[in-house]
Parts: sequence; structure tokens; C-alpha cells
Amino acid sequence: MSERFTVAIDGPAASGKGTISRAVAARLGFAHLDTGLLYRAVGARMLEGQEPVEAARSLDPSELDEERLRTGPVAQAASQVAALPEVRQALTDFQRAFARRAGGAVLDGRDIGTVICPEAEAKLFVTASPECRAERRYKELSAKGYDVTEDSVLEDVRARDARDSERAVAPMRPAEDAVEIDTTTLSIEEAIETALAVIEARRPAV
Ligand code: DC
Repeated sequence: MSERFTVAIDGPAASGKGTISRAVAARLGFAHLDTGLLYRAVGARMLEGQEPVEAARSLDPSELDEERLRTGPVAQAASQVAALPEVRQALTDFQRAFARRAGGAVLDGRDIGTVICPEAEAKLFVTASPECRAERRYKELSAKGYDVTEDSVLEDVRARDARDSERAVAPMRPAEDAVEIDTTTLSIEEAIETALAVIEARRPAV
């Protein structure tokens, strides 16, 4: 039987969790779901005038590839719709089914280890200082040609951190059994190797 193994990777914006998740999934041959894209897709639809709960219920996974989901206004809208319990509820089944697919899965987000997959075999919580995260996000956005300043990105990061960790439903926080990785002073390679070591320690020996 094909392996069922869920890796839950949570953490704040631009902590490095996306990069780590993609690399880890590629190395292990697991499928990867960036769950932030679900909230971003709902946020983008809200900015177009759609009611967020309706948008979440009718979401089509093919919408998740769109480049427009990467912008600052969509990120803020995502963080707003993510505070609505009915939006989170509408997105739960899709995430849980993805997590238990045959062949293994890596999901990254804010509440994967705590709410979506409390039974995940491996849990990581990836952090970095707000300044370090803002600098990374600034470089990423300006390289893509977006007109942003480092200060505005830091403000954006702080506002989302506050909203995501203070909301009543599924606030961002490490699961009790999550291993924390602070990437502030780690290279990308070091962060990926640290994550892989944690995950491998939890996989049954073959
Ligand atoms: O990971 P991201 O920056 O793409 O996420 C965008 C927003 O979506 C984030 O500010 C909070 C929300 N989110 C969430 O509430 N739960 C998740 N599992 C993933 C994202």
C-alpha cells in the first residue's frame, strides 16, 4: 500500500515555510499544498465583489495557480477572509482529503498542525524575525517588478501577523508537538536540511 504520511508546516508570512515545503515535498516525492493560496483565492474574489463564504464554497483548485494571488492587497484580503469561521469551514474538507492522499503530502499554512491535521505525522513551525521576513518579501516582490518599499512590506507583515495570531478561530500558533525552526540566521539549504531531519526521524524505517 502506498504511504500515507502528512507533514504539517505552519508559520507566519515570509518565514520560509513555502520554500521549505516545496523543497521537502520534492525530496520526499510527496504532493504539496500551499493552503494560503486557498485564502488568497477567496480574498481575490472578495475584492471582485463576491461574498467570501460563497467564494469559499465554490472555489475551484484550478484558480490556485494565478499570479495575481501573490500581490499585497490580495494577501491582506486573504488574512481578512481567513478570520471568518464559515470560510475556514468551507475549505477544511479539501485540505484534509489532500493531507491523506496516497503517497504522502506536505501542507503549509497557519493552522495545519493544530486544526486541519492534528494527527499529522510530522509538524514544523517555521519562524523568523519580522524584519528578516519583510526584507525577504520585499526582495521577492521588487524582483517581480512590484512597486513596494521595505517599510510598507514590514507594515504589511506586522498587520497580518497580528490579525492571523489574534483571531478567535484557528489562530496561528505552534502545535504542542511541533518542532520550531527559526530561519533568521539559516541559509535556505540549512533550513531545508533541518526540516528533512525532523521529518525523517518520524518516518517508519523501510
Ligand atoms: O501563507 P500566505 O501568506 O499565502 O497566507 C495568506 C493569508 O491566509 C494569511 O495572512 C492568513 C491566511 N491563512 C490562514 O488563515 N490559514 C492557513 N492555513 C493559510 C493561510
